Amino acid sequence: MGNLAKRVQAIAPFHVMAILNKAKMLQASGKDVIHLEVGEPDFVADESVAKSGIDAIQQRKTGYTSATGLPELKRAIALHYQKKYKTDVSPERIIVTPGASGALILLSSLMVDSGDNVLMPDPCYPCNRHFLVQVGAEAKLINTDASNQFAIELESLADYWDEQTSGLWLASPANPTGAVLSQAYIEKAYEKVVRFGGHLMVDEIYQGLVYEGEDMTALSISEDIFVINSFSKYFAMTGWRLGWIVVPEWAIDGATKLAQNLFISAPTVSQYAAVQALESSVLDECERRRQRLNERRLYLLEGLARLGLPVVAPAQGAFYVFVDVSGITDNAMSWCLGLLEKYYVALTPGDDFGFYNSHKYVRFAYTCDEARLEEALLRIEAYITQES
Ligand SMILES: Cc1ncc(COP(=O)(O)O)c(C=O)c1O
Repeated sequence: MGNLAKRVQAIAPFHVMAILNKAKMLQASGKDVIHLEVGEPDFVADESVAKSGIDAIQQRKTGYTSATGLPELKRAIALHYQKKYKTDVSPERIIVTPGASGALILLSSLMVDSGDNVLMPDPCYPCNRHFLVQVGAEAKLINTDASNQFAIELESLADYWDEQTSGLWLASPANPTGAVLSQAYIEKAYEKVVRFGGHLMVDEIYQGLVYEGEDMTALSISEDIFVINSFSKYFAMTGWRLGWIVVPEWAIDGATKLAQNLFISAPTVSQYAAVQALESSVLDECERRRQRLNERRLYLLEGLARLGLPVVAPAQGAFYVFVDVSGITDNAMSWCLGLLEKYYVALTPGDDFGFYNSHKYVRFAYTCDEARLEEALLRIEAYITQES
């Protein structure tokens, strides 16, 4: 038996893994499991995107690319910012990475020293904490709740900022809440972070999946904000493992050095496919999917209201609804396990996203159609009735 590094112990396994494993077992024994736990669209990339990937393989365009990405992809991403978000971004500032995960790993190495901390809301995307552990730093979570739409109260930021604080990491639309931050909020956050002498990162991986509120980019506020994005969600390309980070001009050389060392390059075939994903015909299809997701969202919100389950965050974006189950249980994790075992509906317990009141919440991902959502709601209703 070897000795694992101590930092591995600092990484808690996802609670949803217990749910996923059980769901797989139940499915293998023939049960009809409804999956509302996975943060992955049920759509796949357009056929033309797949064809571009296949063409790249057939033409043997399979060597490494430049460490920061294929020039034509970087130009296509820049054009997308210009056309859709009216924001000029020079392609040199775009570093293509293996997923947003790669971008977050790169950012941690680029901006955070060992012994530093980074402020972020509780709840938030759990891997952020773990990326920081890898560089000897830590996440400093700031409690948020429904009363402030799960956004950090910016007036209180100074209370959390200390000598070791490197920056503030936000996400909009957010996982697990689906809440969307306004441009005014991000502007104010940026102003404060500049005053404290730190960096601001905004994770825009769910950009485009906005149903209420502003679909914007923090890049329109300042060139000094670090912005993370990905082809995983809006473009439905999770398994192609492709994302990007936009860095300020002064960070390009450092980010390039890190990209060379950490990844050599992002997956080449995926990069050729992604150029096609930014073509207007594919973007039109993405927009139609956004509309379909919105229909599901409204359907689910109505159904949850019928069951008397309070939706605690404004579900304005992404494909998540964050629900308060404290009226029926004091332990969301065991409630989720019970629901799965007895009624074959899989949800993610709030415990996966933080610590503050997390046992009160569950996350629904509306990644299946209305018929399945209706069936899930009927089963949840039966579970609640049976348990009460
Ligand atoms: C907020 C957020 N950031 C980053 C990621 C990582 O995504 P990927 O590496 O697939 O691009 C996810 C995945 O669910 C996420 O929800």
